[in-house]
Amino acid sequence: MKVIVCKDKEQMSVEGAKQIQECMNNKPDCVLGLATGSTPLGMYENLCRMYKEGTLDFSKVKTFNLDEYCDLDVADKNSYHTFMFENLFSKINVSKENIHIPDGESKDANKECKDYEKAIVQAGGIDLQVLGIGRNGHIGFNEPDESLFVETHVTDLTQTTIDDNARFFEKKQDVPTKAITMGMGTIMNARKIIVLANGEGKKDAIRALLSGKVTTNVPVSLLQLHPNVVLICDEAAYPND
Ligand code: F6R
Repeated sequence: MKVIVCKDKEQMSVEGAKQIQECMNNKPDCVLGLATGSTPLGMYENLCRMYKEGTLDFSKVKTFNLDEYCDLDVADKNSYHTFMFENLFSKINVSKENIHIPDGESKDANKECKDYEKAIVQAGGIDLQVLGIGRNGHIGFNEPDESLFVETHVTDLTQTTIDDNARFFEKKQDVPTKAITMGMGTIMNARKIIVLANGEGKKDAIRALLSGKVTTNVPVSLLQLHPNVVLICDEAAYPND
């Protein structure tokens, strides 16, 4: 695994954007797997800036987001659809038909999951998957458990994740408890994965990514089995011990 330790979140965001730029330079019609959350925000800002400066062209790029909450209006300010359009898609020249985000409001969620999986395969698979990590080691919404799903599926969110997400919602009861997420197999099938992490709170999860036993109780540890992972973290998140 390649590890890039950055002095702060700003540098982490620049390094993340460079990885995407390299992927797009090598393959202008590449397929990107994207994450939401606070971690990739700065990277998206850099991508928007690079597009504005004319150094990036998203016209042929296809995107697949990792996950979306269930039973939350896509227009809700906290939906991942809103997040992606506000922070990236509305500011770059990606075609609407090339954007894929699971439909958490689908009446037939299981079909939605199967169709999402098929669409990724039809697009030729993911060239570069961007991941953040939950404090509990989740990736996408693959939460720590005795066993994990391979493909895109509906999942219950753990209390840690619900508590972490509560900061974005006015009332605790509004915080979604279910989501559609790519499975561990969907993620592991990506040809390359970049993991972004900043801040002290991610240290334990990074430790599990870099060494120790592979266990479904810390989903990020499974990435040790992937042949092409780049960890980009700041000094605060990097375990020196
Ligand atoms: C987001 C996602 C999550 C986040 C993780 C970290 O699409 O799948 O796994 O990457 O919860 O969230 P932040 O970046 O807010 O710490």
